[in-house]
Amino acid sequence: MKLKTLFVLCCMLCLSPVLWGAEPIRVETKNVDLIFQVGDNGRLKQMYLGRKLLHESDIRHLTGGQEAYLTHGMEDYFEPAIHVEHNDHNASLELKYVSHAEQALKDGVKETVINLQDDKYPVSVKLHYVAYYDNDIIKTYTEISHQEKKPIILHKYASSMLHFDKSKYYLTEFSGDWISEVQESTQELLFGKKVLDTKLGTRANMFTPPFFQLSLDKPADENTGEVLMGTLGWTGNFRFTFEVDQLKKLRVISGINPYFSAYSLPAKEVFRTPDFFFTYSFEGKGKASRNFHDWARAYQLKDGQGDRMTLLNNWEATYFDFNEEKLLGLMGDAVKLGVDMFLLDDGWFANKYPRHSDTQGLGDWTETADKLPNGLGKLIDEAAKKGIKFGVWIEPEMVNPKSELYEKHKDWVIHLPNRNEYYFRNQMVLDLSNPEVQDFVFGVVDGLMTKYPGIAYFKWDCNSPMTNIYSPYLKEKQTHLYVEYVRGLYKVLDRIKAKYPDLPMMLCSGGSGRIDYKALNYFTEFWPSDNTDPVARLFIQWGYSQFFPAKTLCAHVTTWNKRTSIKFRTDVAMMGKLGFDIKLSDMNAEELAYCQSAIKNYNRLKPAILNGDMYRLVSPYSGNHTSTMFVTKDQTKAVLFAFDIYPRPAQDYSKLVQNVCMQGLDPDKNYRIKEINLMSGQNSSLQGNDQIYSGDYLMKVGLGVFTGNQLNSRVIEITAEN
Ligand code: DGJ
Repeated sequence: MKLKTLFVLCCMLCLSPVLWGAEPIRVETKNVDLIFQVGDNGRLKQMYLGRKLLHESDIRHLTGGQEAYLTHGMEDYFEPAIHVEHNDHNASLELKYVSHAEQALKDGVKETVINLQDDKYPVSVKLHYVAYYDNDIIKTYTEISHQEKKPIILHKYASSMLHFDKSKYYLTEFSGDWISEVQESTQELLFGKKVLDTKLGTRANMFTPPFFQLSLDKPADENTGEVLMGTLGWTGNFRFTFEVDQLKKLRVISGINPYFSAYSLPAKEVFRTPDFFFTYSFEGKGKASRNFHDWARAYQLKDGQGDRMTLLNNWEATYFDFNEEKLLGLMGDAVKLGVDMFLLDDGWFANKYPRHSDTQGLGDWTETADKLPNGLGKLIDEAAKKGIKFGVWIEPEMVNPKSELYEKHKDWVIHLPNRNEYYFRNQMVLDLSNPEVQDFVFGVVDGLMTKYPGIAYFKWDCNSPMTNIYSPYLKEKQTHLYVEYVRGLYKVLDRIKAKYPDLPMMLCSGGSGRIDYKALNYFTEFWPSDNTDPVARLFIQWGYSQFFPAKTLCAHVTTWNKRTSIKFRTDVAMMGKLGFDIKLSDMNAEELAYCQSAIKNYNRLKPAILNGDMYRLVSPYSGNHTSTMFVTKDQTKAVLFAFDIYPRPAQDYSKLVQNVCMQGLDPDKNYRIKEINLMSGQNSSLQGNDQIYSGDYLMKVGLGVFTGNQLNSRVIEITAEN
């Protein structure tokens, strides 16, 4: 029996179908209820989304409700979730409830599938809701299929539609640009539409990432207020539409951006939308973030529970200007520092057009002979001898016009056949809708891994948005390009993951032009920004930490912002996945000793930073200071980071700065407080340093962790004692 048939049969046996009835359909997590009911007209309504109802019997009191997955062409005047065009060019759709089924997956995760169908046209829509009970996370996606004679056209095909009926709505978005990613801003949503979207294709998130926070009734803060945090798992064009209607009700539609993406769907083929993930917190943003962090480590992130390697990267230390000798020197630096890995960045490949700058060579993945006469093999062997791992940079989806690949395979390049080409960073995007190109891109990783099994890590970059939009492969189906590109990318990444399941990979996109939770199913971590100025990083890391756990956020110590000390730069980077991108000759002996001991501290504190609970205590947006702490799940170890950014020097500073109350500790445990990461000869000026306090005191009274000094930082280790 074919695998697919077997799968369908299994699903039919496992799912227990509940037929047409007036019974409500309840999608529930520990603290959240999402409740649907079929109306008298047979259409599915969302009756409730909010705090969990304690008594099941109360559900019958719910009144009103709004069409769960609004269709185009019917009586509602606002933005629909789905818009299809039938064979007769009629574009209306009326979806009626047919059945629903519930299936228990592992670990208390439950999937509910609701089948809807039009009774005039053979078009079916299945709404999927996967509830991760303990994490208060719900994943939703949609499957669309039909039995019309010819393909139907999908003009809009959302992953999710959610309805809200609150007094006020506040949207927090994270738009920005290259080197100023995820800048947080909040606005009240009033009548009409607010759209967050991207049309950039590959480096799709360069101006705005696929996530948002929606505070309900009043702006939520870290610990109080109702907030829904949502994000789309799609490594391409997305769109979130927030629409407030005349009755002050809000509809939120999330999915692939329908821009230039009308999709012609043949009969019997199923169009599966990407996953939309959301959590709903009644205790502010901090709790919502911890829901995402825990869920990601347990279910979504590649090697979510695993360790992460510290590293030395050569990008900012050398840019393209290196040879074997220089790299061997840097590998020696990595050993001296005490990191786990050396990561070789851009510039190691191509011979006809050697990659001495970003103008050429991309696509030709063999080592440049005069830079690396002994190939990567020599570097990998040397790394092994030195007891460190070796990782390498690739950008396999792209090509420079000045390359052998372009000369040989212009048909593999997304380009307009009848116009002059235009470039972003001197490069173009390969056409991943084409299976031959998928083989090529897979082959870049597979070829390197086959030749050099010692490669322990890849940094996968993606520096250009899609330009010159035209696929030589898709021919008359050009509006499929944005969608098929991403599907092609996933096919490649699926093959890599299947063949190299334990290979850690960093997702990079000229900084963070691409991060999302589907990509993180293939990547262990990501590069948040090319901006490594530690002050800027305090804001950028704050932004990403809203959705992604610290172990995914690569943070490197570099020479950016020389006004900050090596201590400040390292302390900032320790709040993520620690790395260095610096030459040891940029440091004096004291600074090197500092970094060496900071790496040891980091390794000791990994259980808290990488796998613990994160509490954002003071926001960098709130003024001159910021503080974040991490606590192990068993509450025996914690680490608090405190930064003074721009305070005005004050005579009696203690009057101006309040204590910072900690969070997440056990009130009944006693904790020793110890400032660590001190420069040699530096004495801690922390009040109560090396003393014991109860968790209760630290959380209610707190400690004065800030100072009046500009660009000052403190790392405080908190250890439970009997
Ligand atoms: C952009 C990345 O963000 C950098 O870290 C570096 O890898 C360069 N690309 C290399 O071209």
